[in-house]
Amino acid sequence: MSTLLLNKIDDVKSNIKNWKKDNLTIGLVPTMGALHRGHASLIKRAKEMCNKVIVSVFVNPIQFGPNEDYDKYPRTMEADKKICEELGVDIVFAPAPSEMYGQGGKLSNNELTFVCPPYNLTDCLCGKSRIGHFDGVATVVMKLFNITTPDFAFFGQKDAQQLFILKRMVKDLNINLTIIPCPIVREDDGLALSSRNSYLSKEERTWALSISKSLKEIEKLYKQGITDCSILFDTALSILDKNLEIEYIEFRNFDTFEEVKTAANNTLAAMAVKAGKTRLIDNIILV
Ligand code: PAF
Repeated sequence: MSTLLLNKIDDVKSNIKNWKKDNLTIGLVPTMGALHRGHASLIKRAKEMCNKVIVSVFVNPIQFGPNEDYDKYPRTMEADKKICEELGVDIVFAPAPSEMYGQGGKLSNNELTFVCPPYNLTDCLCGKSRIGHFDGVATVVMKLFNITTPDFAFFGQKDAQQLFILKRMVKDLNINLTIIPCPIVREDDGLALSSRNSYLSKEERTWALSISKSLKEIEKLYKQGITDCSILFDTALSILDKNLEIEYIEFRNFDTFEEVKTAANNTLAAMAVKAGKTRLIDNIILV
C-alpha cells in the first residue's frame, strides 16, 4: 500500500473508520515536518507496534509566540512525504491551519477552545520564556488525538517537558491511548537532532556541541556518586561554550516534575541555550 497524503480531517476520519472495522491498531506520530532521523526513529517504533501508522505534518501556529520562528520554520513537504513512503507510513496528514482552526485566523483563547496543562508544569523550563507554548501544543495534540483516535502516540524524549505534559493530559483527561516515549537521536558528534539545527551556522554548530558534552559530564559525575545539583550545574556551566546564551539548566524529578537539589535515578537534567538566534534544547535522564 502506498502512503496517502491527506489534507482534510474528514478524509482521515473515513480511512480510520475502515481500519477500526478491521480491528487494526493505529499509531500516531505528531510532527511539524522537516523530518529527520529522530522522527524516523519514532515512525519505525510506531511501525513495529501498530498495524497502521499516521504521521501528522503541521506547523502549529498556536504554539509559537509572536517573536518566534513560525514563518521561517522549515517546511519540506516533498522530502517529508518521501521519508514517510520509504518507512511505510499509511497516512501523512498535512492540514492547512484553516482546516485545523477554521477560516479567519482567530487563534487566541478569546475565540478558540484551548487545553491548558497545569501551571506548575508550564511555568518552568521552556514554558518560562515561551508563554502559552504548551497550551498550544496540548490543544493541537488533543485535536490530533480526536481526529485520528490512535491506540499509541509516539513522542521524542528530547522535548522532555512536552512529553511529561502530554502524558499528564492523557491521564487527567482520561484519553484512551498510550504515549510511547522514544529516545533522543544524536549526530555522531553528540548534537541532538532537531529541525532547528538547519538554522545553525558552522560556527554556531561548533558551540552547540558543548551542550551534549556538558550533559555527558553531568551523567559521568552522577555515575561517580556526585548527586549535588549545584555541583552538576556548575560543571555544565563550565563546559558550555561561552558564546552560547544560557536560558536554563534545571534538574527535575521525572516522575513528579518537581525541582530537585539532589539528583537520583530518574532525575531529568535539562537545558535550553541560544546559539546566535537559534534556541536549542537538550536533556538527559540520570539512571
Ligand atoms: O514536538 C513537536 O514537533 C510539536 O510540538 C508537536 C508535538 C508535533 C505539536 O505540534
